[in-house]
Amino acid sequence: MNNAHLIDHPLINHKLSIMRKKETPPPHFRALLREISMLMGYEVTRDLQLKPIEIETPVAKATASELDGRKMCIFSILRAGEGLSQGLLDLIPTAKVGHVGLYRDPNDLHAVEYYFKSPPHLDERFNLVVDPMLATGNSAITALDRIKRAGAKNITFLCLLAAPEGIKALNEAHPDVQIYTAAIDEKLNEKSYIVPGLGDAGDRIFGTL
Ligand code: URA
Repeated sequence: MNNAHLIDHPLINHKLSIMRKKETPPPHFRALLREISMLMGYEVTRDLQLKPIEIETPVAKATASELDGRKMCIFSILRAGEGLSQGLLDLIPTAKVGHVGLYRDPNDLHAVEYYFKSPPHLDERFNLVVDPMLATGNSAITALDRIKRAGAKNITFLCLLAAPEGIKALNEAHPDVQIYTAAIDEKLNEKSYIVPGLGDAGDRIFGTL
């Protein structure tokens, strides 16, 4: 079963095209990623549960609604996940933020954990794990393994670009996790970069090219 959802919206597609261009500089790239993450955040939070609350407007008493239960946890996969989490925090300032630090082993490209920090009560939260690029899926799979070990049950994965190989791998390893992406590109190249992609997302966000 394929749990990938393509968020296909003209504003996102337009902004993403600018991000893909190699001449787009880091400040512009970061700003666009922040804007896109807000637009995508609107879509991935569509099923959050509400509960009724009684309020008083300047005119009358009314029944309104607010988010039910514990708020979200945004899990940023370091370091490129930071580019997506900023816009999501603009949208949902009360969300807690967890971090998973992974690096790719240069020999076999498998993901190695070097940092993990999360808020408590993950089992009661909607956990949104973010990384702009779903390439081989190795980092995402390792991060999700770790976040589940820490107690998370309700998990969604959000990326900007996905390769078909990454979607397949993530689906196989974590069939309970829904994947949201703004584009599904053609393939991976021999260095596991997404083609056409946008290059190394971390380098483009932080100017470390
Ligand atoms: N990570 C990136 O930043 N870019 C890719 O194309 C693949 C993985």
